[in-house]
Amino acid sequence: MGEIRRIALLASGGDAPGMNSALRAVVFSATKAGIEVVGVYRGYDGLIDWETKVLTIDDVRNINNQGGTFLFTSRSERFLNKIYREKAASNLRENDIDAVVAIGGDGTLRGAIEFCKEGIDIICIPGTIDRDVSCTEYTLGFDTAANTAMEAIDRIRDSSVSHGRCSVVEVMGRKRGYIALWAGMATSADAILLPEKWDGNYDSVTDAITRRHADGRNSYLVVVAEGVTDAQALADRIRDKTGFESRVSVLGYLQRGGQPSAKDRMYASLMGAYSIEILLQGRQNRIVAIKNDRLIDYDIAEAIKINNNQLDSFQYELSLMLQE
Ligand code: F6P
Repeated sequence: MGEIRRIALLASGGDAPGMNSALRAVVFSATKAGIEVVGVYRGYDGLIDWETKVLTIDDVRNINNQGGTFLFTSRSERFLNKIYREKAASNLRENDIDAVVAIGGDGTLRGAIEFCKEGIDIICIPGTIDRDVSCTEYTLGFDTAANTAMEAIDRIRDSSVSHGRCSVVEVMGRKRGYIALWAGMATSADAILLPEKWDGNYDSVTDAITRRHADGRNSYLVVVAEGVTDAQALADRIRDKTGFESRVSVLGYLQRGGQPSAKDRMYASLMGAYSIEILLQGRQNRIVAIKNDRLIDYDIAEAIKINNNQLDSFQYELSLMLQE
């Protein structure tokens, strides 16, 4: 591996708060190490279409507090196709790019695993609100999203209590229940339904509501992860089985936006700087990860087999204990 002189930088997949902080740290670290940074717009699609801009520190100086990604993002369908990955690789070669730094979630990592087979050196930084990249205990954006969901649910609860209703709140997370678990525990939800634990037993939910209703409770809060079931179908079942007036709120994309928390800005800065350290050490095709609250990195092809990100059983048991 020769000297790194020029890198491409992109964000890909669902945007996540903290992506801008990571982009900023990459540009600062690379520039100060004498590496030129070419920003690629719209993720992997921008690599295929070569939609780029050379970035300087001035471009990223004031983006730390901004949600989204200033380089935009995409879920590139074309990148799934080898012909387009070859096109992207030839663009990189023609433009003398020595390595790519990509920030994104599980789909971005999978794209990177295929892309490095084209002879491209790629370093991934895990950024997704879902916390669903298996090799890392943390992904950028989760903390902000969990806090945003918590604040929204606090407000929904006020109205739910006033009206004596059951509120079913659906949060994001794809197949993972971290946002639901954290936001649900933080808002004292009466039921928290997680994809990792859901056994399809609606009766356990409705029976608990009926029991507590009989004990004099007049409002109820269910937080359901999107990977569990359709929230409206769940609310309809609750209404039909318990007679409790039920309302659904799907928090949706508001969880992906907004100013990143201090944790997300900090971890993003650390991960961004660390990605350049990896390149300077001459290591290739790595993903940055957090283990035991420390920065580490894995070979990207191996990373998919590592599971440092199981649902914490103590947290889960505690959430059940607190649902009485
Ligand atoms: O991966 C982040 C995420 O927000 C998931 O929680 C959600 O399932 C998905 O993206 C939505 O994707 P899209 O932006 O393509 O609608």
